[in-house]
Amino acid sequence: MASHSSTTSLLVFLLFSLVVGMASAQLSSTFYAKSCPKALSTIKAAVVSAVGKEARMGASLLRLHFHDCFVQGCDASVLLDGSSGEKSAGPNANSLRGFDVIDTIKTQVESACAGIVSCADILAVAARDSVVALGGPSWVVPLGRRDSTTSSQSAANTDLPAPTLDLAGLITAFSNKGFTTKEMVALSGSHSIGQARCIAFRARAYNETNIDATYKTSLQSKCPSTGGDDNLSPLDVTTPNTFDNAYFTNLKNNKGLLHSDQQLFTTGGSTNAQVNTYSANSAAFRTDFANAMIKMGNLSPLTGTSGQIRKNCRTVN
Ligand code: HEM
Ligand SMILES: *[C@@H]1O[C@H](CO)[C@@H](O)[C@H](O)[C@H]1NC(C)=O
Repeated sequence: MASHSSTTSLLVFLLFSLVVGMASAQLSSTFYAKSCPKALSTIKAAVVSAVGKEARMGASLLRLHFHDCFVQGCDASVLLDGSSGEKSAGPNANSLRGFDVIDTIKTQVESACAGIVSCADILAVAARDSVVALGGPSWVVPLGRRDSTTSSQSAANTDLPAPTLDLAGLITAFSNKGFTTKEMVALSGSHSIGQARCIAFRARAYNETNIDATYKTSLQSKCPSTGGDDNLSPLDVTTPNTFDNAYFTNLKNNKGLLHSDQQLFTTGGSTNAQVNTYSANSAAFRTDFANAMIKMGNLSPLTGTSGQIRKNCRTVN
């Protein structure tokens, strides 16, 4: 009896492992090795060129992958044009950029091998290549995602974290997508590069007290209390075009740009220790960031015969 029930447990366990394995083992770093061997080098060259023209583009491409993956998975839903789609959602409208660079990459990849490489995979590889181009860590990108035929504005409004969130809200937003608090802190290190608009940090620049006085004055000079909503300021005031751990040191000095950034380091905050670690140990940040990016890239991909390989990233076939 005992041996029968343990045999049953073993079988149930094996079946469970198979199902879990199938759900997570579909992407493969060699997915295009035979079908489009030039895919990765084509994407990399285009990203290096775009970032060479404008360093911020690396940040913009990284953010596109994040905003893709957090909304119905990494399926290039963020790239679909249309006023009812994700592009028009609150966190994205007048904010996301880099769509033209993705179009250029897609055109080049299509001419190398038509109808093979998904827009979702292009986003994942371009994000990695962008981080590398700005001095950050590298990682091997699992591939084989396919593209959605839908885009959800309401899901984008619900699932993307707002800069007004407190720490508890940030933890919940990432936990909803399967991330630990530690991974949330690591991924926030993305704000080592790129810019934010005045409208996203005005309340912090005028009304918050956990902000360095000199930094506050300089933010107010760039961001008037009314008007100038689109005026830009770097998310990392120290090294805005280098992907490094200075973002975390800034937080320790009350120089986080967004309310949500500074929430990671507040008096008695539960993530302070993690910020201290990343500020002191660049290698730990780079390793944790790379691993969290691979995990983010695995969010609910369409695989097999689901979805499609879009010919144009902006429209369904
Ligand atoms: C922790 C929660 C997060 C919040 C609340 C947040 C919020 C924001 C906001 C408000 C901006 C400025 C947008 C604008 O003013 O137009 C921004 C920019 C940016 N975000 Fe985040 N973000 C978060 C996490 C992430 C993650 C996980 C990544 C990447 C994996 C990321 C990558 C970026 C990048 C690179 C930029 C600069 C984009 C550019 O210059 O074009 N963010 N974020
Ligand atoms: C600062 O707080 C006051 C009082 O709550 C509010 O009226 C004002 O709009 C806030 N200013 C900004 C820039 O958020």
